[in-house]
Amino acid sequence: MRMILIGPPGAGKGTQAANLVDTYEIPHISSGDMLRAAVKAGTELGKVADRYMKAGDLVPDDVVIGMIIERIGADDCARGFMLDGFPRTQPQAAALDEALKKAGVDLDAVVLIEVPDELILDRITGRRSDPETGTIYHLKFKPPPPEVAGRVVQRKDDTAEACTARLSKYHRETAPVVPYYEARGILRRVDGVGAPDEVLLRLTAALKAPSAS
Ligand code: AP5
Repeated sequence: MRMILIGPPGAGKGTQAANLVDTYEIPHISSGDMLRAAVKAGTELGKVADRYMKAGDLVPDDVVIGMIIERIGADDCARGFMLDGFPRTQPQAAALDEALKKAGVDLDAVVLIEVPDELILDRITGRRSDPETGTIYHLKFKPPPPEVAGRVVQRKDDTAEACTARLSKYHRETAPVVPYYEARGILRRVDGVGAPDEVLLRLTAALKAPSAS
C-alpha cells in the first residue's frame, strides 16, 4: 500500500498514521518528523529548515523533495509507505509522481482528513509529545498519563502565531494539490471531527472502499 495522508495542521495525520501503520505494516514517513530530527541533529538541512519551520513557513521544495524521494527509495519501503505531510505543494506532487513512475509503481490512495479551521488552533496549541516514545498527546483531548506528564514537550511551531501562518500556507499551497489527486480517482475524504477512535473507523472504512478510478 502506497498512500498519502493530507490535511491541515492539527487534522490528526500523525495521530492516525500511528494507528494505521501496524495494520498495513508499512513505514510512517512524516516530512515534519524528518525535518525536526535534522534540526535536532544540527545538520545543514536542519539549519535551513529551522528558519522556515519556526515561522510556520514551508521549507523550500528542493530541500524537502530530495529528502523524501531518497527515503521512499529505502528497502523498508519496497512493500509501500504512508506519507504524512508530503506532498504539500504542486511541485512536490509532481516530483513524487516522477519518482514513482521511474520505480514502476503507483499510489494506491490519498486520504484527506478534513477539519474546519475553527478547531485547529485549539488542537495545535494543546498538543504535547513524549520525547522518549514520540507519542502525541493533547492537554484537553488526550492528556498524558501522570508518569509521562512531567516530560512532555511542546513543538516550537505550535504557537498561535505560527499556527495561523501554517493554516494560511495550507490553504494557499497544499489545498490546491487535492483536486490533482481527486481527478485521478484516488482521493478519499474523511471527516476528522470527533474522537480519534471514531476518525480511525472512518479512515479504515474509506481505505477499504473501492476507489473511484
Ligand atoms: P508537520 O509536522 O507536517 O506539521 P503539520 O502538517 O502542520 O501537521 P501537524 O503535525 O501539526 O498535525 P497533524 O495533522 O499530524 O496532527 P496531530 O495528529 O499531531 O510540519 C511542520 C513544519 O515542517 C511545516 O510547517 C513546514 O515548515 C515543515 N514541513 C513539513 N513537511 C513539509 C513539506 N512537505 N514541504 C515543506 N515544508 C514542510 O494532532 C494534533 C493535536 O490534536 C494532537 O495534540 C492530537 O492529540 C490532537 N488530536 C488528533 N486527533 C484528534 C481528534 N480527532 N480530536 C481531538 N484532538 C485530536
